[in-house]
Amino acid sequence: MIQITYVEHNGRAHVVDVPQGATVMEGARDNGIPGIEADCGGACSCATCHAYIDPAWVGKLPAKQPMEKDMLDFAHEPDPARSRLTCQIRVSEALEGLVLHMPERQA
Ligand code: FES
Repeated sequence: MIQITYVEHNGRAHVVDVPQGATVMEGARDNGIPGIEADCGGACSCATCHAYIDPAWVGKLPAKQPMEKDMLDFAHEPDPARSRLTCQIRVSEALEGLVLHMPERQA
C-alpha cells in the first residue's frame, strides 16, 4: 500500500493507503474522498478527476500523455504546471507520500 494525501479545496487533508496498480483517482473514489468525481470512470474523457499536484511532486510523476493534455483543457482552472487527471496516474512505490490538492470544483 502506498500512502497518498488528498487535500480538499477547504484544506481538509485525507491520508489514505492506496494499493499499487490502482490509479490515484481510484484511491480517492474507493476511500470516499470528496472532490474527485470521475464521471467517466477513468476513461480520460471527462476531466472531473482533476487535481493539482503538490509542487514537490510535480517532477516525480510520469509525463502526461497527449490525451490527458487535451482533456485537461476541459478542467476547471487548470494549471499548466501542476494539473493532472488523477485517473491517468498509476500508483507505484515511487509515489509513496504523494500529496495533491483538489480544485474548487470539477469541470
Ligand atoms: Fe474521467 Fe479521469 S475519470 S477523465
